[in-house]
Formats: sequence, C-alpha cells, structure tokens
Amino acid sequence: SPFWAVVPAAGTGRRFGADQPKQFVRIGEQSVLAHTLQRLAAVPGLAGIVLVVADLADAGDWSQLAVPVVAVRGGAERADSVMAGLYWLVAEQGPDCWALVHDAARPGVRVADVVTLMDYCAAHDLGAILALPARDTIKTADAGAMVLETLPRDSIWLAQTPQCFRADQLLRALKEAAEQGLPVTDEASAMQAVGEPVQLIRGHWHNTKLTEPEDFPLIEWILSQHD
Ligand code: C5P
Repeated sequence: SPFWAVVPAAGTGRRFGADQPKQFVRIGEQSVLAHTLQRLAAVPGLAGIVLVVADLADAGDWSQLAVPVVAVRGGAERADSVMAGLYWLVAEQGPDCWALVHDAARPGVRVADVVTLMDYCAAHDLGAILALPARDTIKTADAGAMVLETLPRDSIWLAQTPQCFRADQLLRALKEAAEQGLPVTDEASAMQAVGEPVQLIRGHWHNTKLTEPEDFPLIEWILSQHD
C-alpha cells in the first residue's frame, strides 16, 4: 500500500508567542513549513502529502515539489487536524494506505530515518513511530513542581514524528479517543488506547520540534547540516 504524509500545520501558535504561527516563520530563504515539506518530498517512495492548514488561503503553492500536495482544513486541536487529513486520505486513496503523520514544526526530520520507519511498517505490517531514548532522568511533579516520582530511565523514550499507521485504523483510534475524552497529543497514544501495538524506531535529535522562539538558532544550524 502507498505511503502518504499527513502534515498538521493548522496550529495557531498559542504557546509560541510570535506574530505568526511558528510553521510560517522564515528560516533562511523559506518558511519552516517549506523546509519540512521539502524533506518529506525527498523521501523515496512517498506517494504524496496531505497538508492540513487552518485557512486554505494560506496553503501555499507546492507544485514545484516532487510529490503532489493536497491541502485540507484543520481543526481546533492537533488531533482534529490529523483526523481532517485522514478523512481525505481514506476517502480519496483508500483505507489501507499508510499515513505518516509529521509535525510541520519538525523541519529537521532526516530522510534516512523516515525510510527506516517506512521499511519497518511495510515489512512487519505494524504501526511505528520515530522516538529517542531519554538522556535525562525524568520526574513527574505536582502543580508546585515538587517531585512526585522518578521514572526508570531505561524504559523512557521521547516520541517524535513521523508516526506511521494504517490510515483507517488511525482514524478510528483517534475518533474513539476523542469520544472517550482522552488527551491525545500524538497518534501513538490513540493507537495505544485502543490496544494496538506501536513500535518505537530510534530517530535523531535533529528532528526536534520548534517549540520556543529560542529554538530558532538551533533549528537554523540543524537545517544547515544537509542531512
Ligand atoms: O502545538 P504543537 O507543537 O503540539 O503542534 C504540533 C503540530 O501540530 C504543529 O505543526 C501545529 O501546526 C499542528 N497543529 C494543527 N492543528 C492544531 C494544533 C496544532 O495542525 N489545532
């Protein structure tokens, strides 16, 4: 079955605090989103990209990329935006295609890591995500930042994107999670909530998410590394 990327880029940047959402800020000659789409379009075997935006008027012209880019309108939360992309994918490309959900705000994603992820999913017919083993010791804490618990580091991974699942299975899981009111900050948590296995594939720290304005110099450097 074909692999399609679904790129949620419909965030309004509440936490970010710039005058425009972080995915539209320029780094060098082009926007963060353009860097992200360019990396994805360079992935061998990718059939196309579903770009999810808040306003279709801001979708941009991606006709120069090597794969087709289809723009759809997103929703209030990240999970709503992903579901909007998946509705298009299931309806137009069929329920069996693979959806590689990748944050617009992760322009440093490496083509080789996406290929490893796709190869794993195709070979094992299982969902998988890029992730990194935790380097720091992870604490849970109360609202006053008083430590509650220290988690065993050996079993802690940090989830990245792409997160790759069959489009129809992921759509069903996200719908069910929404119905149950579960907080879903990534696709894997929805799949896990409905009892589906999720394999972690070791990624690279360059695939960090642009979260704070302070991250810009780092992302700029990462994008200069040509990986
Ligand atoms: O806010 P956060 O960093 O978790 O956003 C991750 C990605 O999800 C960003 O690319 C953002 O544009 C996207 N998003 C979205 N629709 C929303 C909220 C976030 O597509 N309602």
